Amino acid sequence: MIKSKIAGIGKYVPEHVVSNEKLSTLMDTSDEWITERTGIKERRYAERYEETTATMGAKAARIAIERAGIDKEDIDFIIFATLSADYYFPGCGVLVQRELGITNTEIGALDIRNQCTGFVYGISVADQFIRSGMYKNILLIGAEMHSMGLNYSTEGRDISVIFGDGAGAVVLQATEEEGRGILSSKLHSDGTYAEKLALICPGSHGGYHNKYLEENVDYGFSKENEFGDVFVTPTMLEKGQTFPYMEGKFVFKMAVQKFPEVIMEVLTEANKQPSDINMLIPHQANLRISQFVQKKLGLSDDQVHNNIHKYGNTTAASVPIALCEAWEEGRVKEGDLVCLAAFGSGFTWGATLLNW
Ligand code: UT7
Repeated sequence: MIKSKIAGIGKYVPEHVVSNEKLSTLMDTSDEWITERTGIKERRYAERYEETTATMGAKAARIAIERAGIDKEDIDFIIFATLSADYYFPGCGVLVQRELGITNTEIGALDIRNQCTGFVYGISVADQFIRSGMYKNILLIGAEMHSMGLNYSTEGRDISVIFGDGAGAVVLQATEEEGRGILSSKLHSDGTYAEKLALICPGSHGGYHNKYLEENVDYGFSKENEFGDVFVTPTMLEKGQTFPYMEGKFVFKMAVQKFPEVIMEVLTEANKQPSDINMLIPHQANLRISQFVQKKLGLSDDQVHNNIHKYGNTTAASVPIALCEAWEEGRVKEGDLVCLAAFGSGFTWGATLLNW
């Protein structure tokens, strides 16, 4: 039976380390608050005006390609997951193709906008293409450059202390080897709560046309204009409406419910149980969430990899960065049962179970 395996993995985190203490000089926060509520001690910020989401993705990709033992021209499909793309359009898929110098135009490039679950969704998409025989070497990247778009005043502190920059990448290939490859994947969504964790400006909603948005908020659109309202207005910039919004407690409650549920789903589908897991790689949203999930599933510290203290929440990049790190540290070995799981904006959530 044909399955998909991770043939190579790479990560890239920028050199610039930003500590909790540093953020405390910009806004009313403290190392104590951030550590206690999130587990984060520091995060990395990309080099402004030099690095972008696509260039960081390319750096991780080069490592993954080399470790897979293939040439970049062997890549026949690119999937790029991010919420912080270099451009509104085109997406980072084609930008990374160019950055890597892949000249082959027979390949496809797909962008995934699924925020924290982008990588887990991407691996499931790649798996389908590989098992169908359509593609042989799929490059999947999760990369994020949050630092350009956060509110560094006290008003934005609940969000800005959480996020960090970085990238992770894998090369997926077909395998018929016994005891290797993706066993099961499960994806979920619930659009009911789309605005609970969102960045709605700029966008085409026009404010008052959208019944799901808070009423009577001025986005600077004019009802009288038949033409000419652009999707970004001076009001949005003045009012800080172009920064992300999160109803933290609500998201937290949903996350701790959905993570264990979806992990159990992929385990059940593969006829496994939590004790069979060698390594759980949870999306690094909050250490307290990961600890809750670990406890709920009865997993030991040896069965879970967390690195949020070093990198914060890197959204689509968090799962591949953590997976790569766990592998580099020898915590993931050939044949190990590895579970990847994520929950985030949308809401969307999902998990993948694989033998490394
Ligand atoms: O990756 C996608 C999924 N994301 C998540 O899963 C994130 C889920 N949510 C969370 O991780 C947590 O809700 C947060 C870390 C975002 C917030 O932690 P919390 O324990 O839920 O705190 P809170 O939002 O209820 O805020 C508690 C207090 C508030 O002050 P008052 O109203 O009690 O006076 C906040 O204003 O903490 C205040 N606060 C801060 N204080 C210092 C909020 N942010 C900060 C801050 N520094 N950075």
